[in-house]
Amino acid sequence: MNQTLQQRDEMSSEDAVQAAPLLAVRGLSKAFGGVHAVDELSFQILPGQIYAVIGPNGAGKTTLFNLITGLYQPDQGGVSLKGEAVQGLPPERLARLGMSRTFQNLQICMNMTALENVMLGRHLHLKRNFLAVLLRWPSLRASERTCRAQAEELIRFVGCGDYVNAEAAAMPYGALKRLEIARALATQPSILLLDEPAAGLNSTETAALEQLIRKVAAGGITVVLVEHDMKLVMSISDRILVLDYGRKLAEGTPREIRDNPDVIAAYLGG
Ligand SMILES: Nc1ncnc2c1ncn2[C@@H]1O[C@H](COP(=O)(O)OP(=O)(O)OP(=O)(O)O)[C@@H](O)[C@H]1O
Ligand SMILES: [Mg+2]
Repeated sequence: MNQTLQQRDEMSSEDAVQAAPLLAVRGLSKAFGGVHAVDELSFQILPGQIYAVIGPNGAGKTTLFNLITGLYQPDQGGVSLKGEAVQGLPPERLARLGMSRTFQNLQICMNMTALENVMLGRHLHLKRNFLAVLLRWPSLRASERTCRAQAEELIRFVGCGDYVNAEAAAMPYGALKRLEIARALATQPSILLLDEPAAGLNSTETAALEQLIRKVAAGGITVVLVEHDMKLVMSISDRILVLDYGRKLAEGTPREIRDNPDVIAAYLGG
């Protein structure tokens, strides 16, 4: 973990090209009718990075996440995770390989408690074998206890410790956004994709979210972040990918992106 962080601090742009990527996207394309939502897109994410994907509404950010996480099949191109081709694998297989995500629209069960939401997330995404569950009944009880303890720990980790047994419907919106991150972390991912985690948050909640994302990354989890909050993106990201009409407009460090004339003209200048 420390090594990853240290690597990140010491890595220049040239080193970055040579290190083995955790996630690699190559020539990825997806069209809906005549709309090229993602268009021949290639980029790499190194282990331990906080990697942001930005771009105007409709630029293809969520479609990119849906392609990477197996919700959509690509028309062309590939995705590899830890060097292994994973494009087209279903989300639960990807979860077992260490990929997890949150959604642009909250995917929380409002009539369940925070704890139940996090425990459910783990069961759904890892899809336990029902027969194994039946045959291993005594050890299952122990594993349920462990699962519950881990879920509680995660809820505290994301700063929702006051809400462990609260109904989700009774939680403030900012806490629900962090609860969704807890649920995504329950599958113990090596890479976590967050689709607009700061959307709808006030500045206090956004500051808490920023600290949480930093804590997640410090724990050795690679974070991919789709976000419109430029202050957050510029402050937290190691690298930024700018999408425009499904294509790569620019990619680089926050400073490189801020100073890029194409980005200023097409996006930030607006
Ligand atoms: N399931 C779908 N069916 C048809 N068109 C789609 C579908 N999903 C996305 N699109 C289209 O693909 C393009 C990219 O959409 P996408 O949701 O990926 O953008 P986005 O960058 O996430 O935008 P936003 O910032 O508003 O969330 C848009 O033109 C959108 O209308
Ligand atoms: Mg989107």
